[in-house]
Amino acid sequence: MSLPPSVPSHPVYIPAYAKVNLTLAVLGRRADGYHRLSSVMQTISLHDTLRLSAAKAREPKRVTCFCDLDGLPMAENLAYRAAILLQRAACVTAGVSIEAQKVIPAQGGLGGGSSDAAAILNALNILWAVGYDAARLEALGAQLGSDVPFFIGGGTALIEGRGEVVTPLPDAESLWYVLVKPPVAVSTAAVFGSLDPAEYDDATASEALVAAIRAGEPLPFERLSNTLERGVMQVYPAIAAARDALLASGAPIVRMSGSGPTLYAPFRTLAEAATVYRCFCEREQTGRAANIAWLCHTVSREQATNRW
Ligand code: C5P
Repeated sequence: MSLPPSVPSHPVYIPAYAKVNLTLAVLGRRADGYHRLSSVMQTISLHDTLRLSAAKAREPKRVTCFCDLDGLPMAENLAYRAAILLQRAACVTAGVSIEAQKVIPAQGGLGGGSSDAAAILNALNILWAVGYDAARLEALGAQLGSDVPFFIGGGTALIEGRGEVVTPLPDAESLWYVLVKPPVAVSTAAVFGSLDPAEYDDATASEALVAAIRAGEPLPFERLSNTLERGVMQVYPAIAAARDALLASGAPIVRMSGSGPTLYAPFRTLAEAATVYRCFCEREQTGRAANIAWLCHTVSREQATNRW
């Protein structure tokens, strides 16, 4: 009798990287209430850490998930839901014990929960010897959230449909990013729900980025854009204030990622990025804004998928 495939007793630690939306064009609303998107997404080095170990011997089929974030019930954790989804879909008889150290802010526009879910699907696909291809994992991921399919492959990709149509692109220019998370939590559903149809965009900016990326050219910073940015900043003045502070710290370009509130500023050299990061942090010490800032960088597809 062969034993069911199982997670090795020695734990594995897996990074789950955040993303930024280099472009995010909302093209229109679909009959099912979701919105049609054209977005170029990029994985970045800010990451959660997931630890996977074998389920307890007395409950070998059980999936458990501890997360160090207060107030997130296990049943709502996308990492837990991803493990259960794959276990059921592939009729897996093994379990897993997951610990999730959250660094990517929740409801931050950086895809933290979605990235955790994709990392779990990718890892358990191997550790449980399921053997699904990327398309099958993306389809499973789409059941958990619109951003999950992108994170199956990560790197740089064009995202269309409601998020589930992923076209991998060559790795975009490698950059440093200063990230700033203003002290507000933004509901993605509320942001999309309140979007005025007059704000709908076309896909021109995404197409310009895709062309530059395919040609191996530097990213055209002037085409970085986000349909949702204006409306979200009107509702949350703290985000506009953080953008102004980042610009005043010397960032030439500041954009919002996803439905916000996190902002990013891209740089070609660490010297520029570190100067702006330091200047921003010094201003923060004298103010009372409670923004959180990070200095991070592009993560290529190879780096995003070679997790351990
Ligand atoms: O797919 P996900 O659960 O991450 O989406 C959260 C909410 O954001 C959806 O319930 C929907 O209201 C909105 N959304 C949308 N169009 C998209 C993606 C998300 O309207 N393409």
